[in-house]
Amino acid sequence: MSDFNGNFWSLYVAALTLASIVGCLLLLWITARKKVVSSADNTTGHVWDEDLREMNNPMPRWWVWLFVITIVFGLLYLVAYPGLGSYPGQLAWTTSGEYSNEVEKANRELAPLYAQFTARKPEELAGDPSAMSVGERLFMNNCAQCHGSDARGSKGFPNLTDNDWLHGGSPEKIKETITGGRHAVMPPMAAAVGSPDDVKNVANYVLSLSGSPHDSVRAQLGKSKFTACAACHGVDGKGNQAIGAPNLTDDIWLHGWGEQAIVSMVNNGKVNDMPPQAGKLTEAQIHVLTAYVWGLSNRPQLARQ
Ligand code: HEC
Ligand code: HEC
Repeated sequence: MSDFNGNFWSLYVAALTLASIVGCLLLLWITARKKVVSSADNTTGHVWDEDLREMNNPMPRWWVWLFVITIVFGLLYLVAYPGLGSYPGQLAWTTSGEYSNEVEKANRELAPLYAQFTARKPEELAGDPSAMSVGERLFMNNCAQCHGSDARGSKGFPNLTDNDWLHGGSPEKIKETITGGRHAVMPPMAAAVGSPDDVKNVANYVLSLSGSPHDSVRAQLGKSKFTACAACHGVDGKGNQAIGAPNLTDDIWLHGWGEQAIVSMVNNGKVNDMPPQAGKLTEAQIHVLTAYVWGLSNRPQLARQ
């Protein structure tokens, strides 16, 4: 990339562009001046297929003017818009500038609509179909690629409809998650647990917490090893939303179910990121999304009200 930091390539491109325009002008000039020797009947003297003759008529005026106008247009364009190397053009137009103008314009137009939404609490908005159709569209455009279009997630990406929360399911906590993102870290724990057999034992103990099928002898042996996990997942294994440590007793598995999956969690640990949306979405959009996400697991409750 260091090649592109200096001025050389900019000048090179600019010179090449200007040279080709001058070349076009020269071509026009030369062809306009050059008279082909013609015989008295206004032909060039070339004959094909016995009687096909080449006439020596000048190019039509309108065509020549069109050519000139095109060149003038090209020059004016290069003055106004970026095109000559790194010269930005008199209008200082950029694609990213045009894009942010469009986004700003759309945000301005939508501001009155969003003002109605932000004035209300997420719990209330979740029951408003027009707000929720906006929320659904925002979700499809910004969240569905990870959480799925039905928001049920997949391995590593949490289901947002099951009312089981890593970081808390209150509107405040959901908003915090969306705005600032989340960085969840489960460190590799094998060394703290002991031998590979100990790891298998603690995995079976974890399975026993949710009443999942497990080896009960191993689970008994693994129980004492769970102290290494309790700092984050709690003594009872019910998790800790303050650090995003999942509840291990609810039979809901973010990273897969079964001895194998848990052994791999303990051996390798896991880093899982929810990207912050603050720079990407406006506060009002995040407010509507908060209501949408909260509503996904609280609609039945709304319907009863
Ligand atoms: C690049 C993928 C990605 C995108 C895009 C994304 N998320 Fe997430 N999200 C995640 C991951 C991964 C987690 C889990 C983080 C963890 O393990 O703690 C998560 C967690 C969450 C949580 C917390 C769930 C809980 O149980 O506490 C919420 C709420 C959430 N996302 C909402 C959203 C919304 C709303 C959007 C769209 C604005 C969005 N996410 C976009 C990957 C993504
Ligand atoms: C430093 C805190 C910490 C410690 C100690 C810790 N964990 Fe975790 N654990 C986490 C976090 C945070 C996650 C969630 C990762 C994510 O969001 O993707 C997690 C996830 C898990 C999961 C995946 C749960 C699911 O739903 O798929 C299992 C299983 C697990 N831990 C077991 C253990 C066991 C067993 C131990 C002890 C040997 C342990 N953890 C120790 C923080 C910890």
